[in-house]
Amino acid sequence: MAEEKKSQQGEWSSRFAFILAATGSAVGLGNIWKFPYITGENGGGAFVLVYLLCVVLIGVPLMMAETMLGRRSKENPIHTMEILTKEAGADHNWQYLGWLGVTAGFLILSYYSVIAGWATAYVVKAFFGSFFGATPQEIKAIFDGFVASPIQLIFWHSLFMLATMLIVARGIEKGFERSIRFLLPWLFALMILLVGYAMSTDGYFQGLNFLFKPDFSKLTANSVLVAMGQAFFSLSLGMGSIMVYGAYLPKDVSIAKSSMFIAGADTIVALLAGIIIFPIVFSHGLHPNSGPGLVFETLPIAFGNMFGGWLVGVLFFIALVFAALSSSIALIEPAVAWLIENQGYSRPKACLYSGLLAWFLGLGTVFSFNAWANFKLFGQTIFELLDYLTANLMLPIGGFCIAIFAGWIMKQDHSRHELELPDDKYYQVWKFLVSYVAPAAVFFVFLNVVGVL
Ligand code: PFF
Repeated sequence: MAEEKKSQQGEWSSRFAFILAATGSAVGLGNIWKFPYITGENGGGAFVLVYLLCVVLIGVPLMMAETMLGRRSKENPIHTMEILTKEAGADHNWQYLGWLGVTAGFLILSYYSVIAGWATAYVVKAFFGSFFGATPQEIKAIFDGFVASPIQLIFWHSLFMLATMLIVARGIEKGFERSIRFLLPWLFALMILLVGYAMSTDGYFQGLNFLFKPDFSKLTANSVLVAMGQAFFSLSLGMGSIMVYGAYLPKDVSIAKSSMFIAGADTIVALLAGIIIFPIVFSHGLHPNSGPGLVFETLPIAFGNMFGGWLVGVLFFIALVFAALSSSIALIEPAVAWLIENQGYSRPKACLYSGLLAWFLGLGTVFSFNAWANFKLFGQTIFELLDYLTANLMLPIGGFCIAIFAGWIMKQDHSRHELELPDDKYYQVWKFLVSYVAPAAVFFVFLNVVGVL
């Protein structure tokens, strides 16, 4: 009896740890900072609809595939691809897929840390009451003044990167896990509170209309690519991050159920962010397409005006920083694991070097908002270029290859055995989505963007 009980508890806590880590990786700046501003830039409803379709048709099946590959090999992404390539008797070039992911994670981290630095600075601004009674113009001036200062951005970027390095260097400690366990539900609760504020504004219905009423004339080939890229970015797919977490997943946990939970939670947080932000935009005559500053120019208006706004603002930005930390550790971990396992570095040294390199690359993003704002390659700043290259190209290409691998290369017996779906019908649906729908979608979206279609 006693033994049975113990093993059950163990299983529950492992499943919980996996879901927590994977949800922590998924929920972050992508949901609260990026989703609203790219929705604003791409015209609203139709873009959101394409995004949701990508989450359901590509995101969930791919998340299942990545988790399954990780669980089968129980290794880091580079090793996973090596082992599974051998197991399937496939071409050895498949193992480079792990590399693509490690590189993408690294590049994303470089700019992710800069933006997370903004959120960290906003904890302090909220704490000192900077938004109290401020007009939307004053709040915009605070943001513009802030990003115009390279020194300030570098300071907060360094602080955030240091925190990431310290957490990863110590191994993901219980303390950090515990904070995430409390802070994610907090973030959620605060967002519900903010939806209440959004409902009280004049622009509530206009905001909802913008978000949910599709106007397909606003949809371009590029916005479809951006929506698809965002599905990958927000769900942390296409770069092996979920694969690493899948490696710790016990055998009896349903991969399908946990993937649906994680994708569902991630999507709800993104939609809530939109439901909060667009009403504020419309009730104050702001523009939905004001770019990466959108969240920082709108939410403080709520904090400056709502009852209890000081406390809500401070807690919200703290929770956002922790959500960003639980994503940044997932971004750096593949590179760190590779340095330890393949190059023989100690964990602290691996963190130091990869953190420093990502920090250095991040300076390009810092200067994109001030000193180098006019320096453009292909019409884009360094930040925009890095974002486009990773989210819209590298992650979908990585996802495409993972889908092909899981659907076509891996032996069907193995994937069926790992997924253990309750009915073979479900397995066939997954297999169809991952073998045909996901790769074809990525392929056609690419063709569309380069103008072939
Ligand atoms: N999903 C994270 C977010 O939405 O903020 C970003 C991210 C984390 C992307 C980890 C990729 C990744 F591997």
